[in-house]
Amino acid sequence: MQATIPAGLDRKEAEVYLRLDPNRLPKHIAIIMDGNGRWAKRRHLPRVAGHRAGVASVRSTVETAARVKIPSLTLYAFSEENWKKRPKSEVDFLMGLLCRYLKQEVPTLNKNNIRLEYIGRLHELPPVVQKKMEEARQATSTNTGMVLTLALNYSARSEIVDAFRSIVDAAARNGGLDHMEIDEESVSRHLYTRHLPDPDLVIRTSGEMRLSNFLLWQLAYAEIYVTPTLWPEFRGVHLLEGIAEYQKRERRYGGLADHDHHHASKARS
Ligand code: IPE
Ligand code: IPE
Ligand code: MG
Repeated sequence: MQATIPAGLDRKEAEVYLRLDPNRLPKHIAIIMDGNGRWAKRRHLPRVAGHRAGVASVRSTVETAARVKIPSLTLYAFSEENWKKRPKSEVDFLMGLLCRYLKQEVPTLNKNNIRLEYIGRLHELPPVVQKKMEEARQATSTNTGMVLTLALNYSARSEIVDAFRSIVDAAARNGGLDHMEIDEESVSRHLYTRHLPDPDLVIRTSGEMRLSNFLLWQLAYAEIYVTPTLWPEFRGVHLLEGIAEYQKRERRYGGLADHDHHHASKARS
């Protein structure tokens, strides 16, 4: 049977989509959007021109993910370290860009039935930005399709510290730590990502082979796909190529390869 191509894919996307198994799509994809500065530098432009160009990449990636029915997409937009270590002018530019994105994109998010969420130490962001974020979240809150989560002022270690605090708080309110069941499930419920399954696939653009403090707990068994493409050049078709690569991988979760597993269970019986 010929697979049906989702509406809205362009010719190149459709070509890659036909190579995919629609029954084995990742349920949650996380993306480290990197390389904006290098993209700008190559064009002899200021770094912020790279951030501005990256908005089109976000739009294309988000729409394609929604069209092929990825249930959750999480984008690392900026880290707590970016916030603390980059020049104020660059941080201010990113804040402005985020506000404009949130205002502009709500109609597109609604058209694609996408619900917007955030992770990170959001209360440390400028109040005007928080207000825009909340408005966009509210405006998309009844959508039932893909969940788009933006990581803003995010640090995985801070998230784990905040989870510890939240567990201790909950214990204090419920008769002390002795009465508290602490296991992987309960830790997960205290993370910012409590609304999400763990990512199956993490994509990093611009060729860097590191996680840069992104979702350290949640990525325990994620497949890692690094592409040399710089973020401002990344489009929906590249997302689909990442999914194609993901589908070639064999996930073991500490077990054995499928054919070895067959032999092992025979040997045991
Ligand atoms: C990623 O691009 C965007 C953010 C971290 C906000 P960079 O700004 O890190 O670009 P490079 O790594 O310097 O090329
Ligand atoms: C990671 O990129 C953070 C985001 C993409 C938002 P960075 O460019 O900040 O990471 P490093 O500095 O290369 O580790
Ligand atoms: Mg970078």
